[in-house]
Amino acid sequence: QASIEVDIASIEVGQAIKTSWRKQPVFIRNLTAEEIAEAKKVDVAGLRDPQTLDERTQPNKENWLVTLGVCTHLGCVPLGAAAGEVKGEYGGYFCPCHGSHYDTAGRIRKGPAPTNLVVPEFTFVSDTVIKIG
Ligand code: FES
Repeated sequence: QASIEVDIASIEVGQAIKTSWRKQPVFIRNLTAEEIAEAKKVDVAGLRDPQTLDERTQPNKENWLVTLGVCTHLGCVPLGAAAGEVKGEYGGYFCPCHGSHYDTAGRIRKGPAPTNLVVPEFTFVSDTVIKIG
């Protein structure tokens, strides 16, 4: 389908859900204040794929990190979106296939992945519903 709407009302701060869009996994994460601060203090110039948290989230909704759940190395599904899964050395997501570590903005920080987790086109339909695609 071209686009999907997802109800995010029940995603608590610090939690994430997995959904799918165009047959690809999508992670929707409600970042904690600490995770936001962590993402913002990074010197973007030193990143492999330089992007700020602001560039990867919507205005005034920076706590909502929406990414494809597809490692940009060879396409495995990273860990970290489900409760109890390891989040890697940078607190975001970890791809166990070959050890790529993503930070709390979903940016590649260590390991073979060449680029950040992809942020799909999305908009807020309301405070609690997002439309992806
Ligand atoms: Fe994720 Fe290789 S597919 S590190």
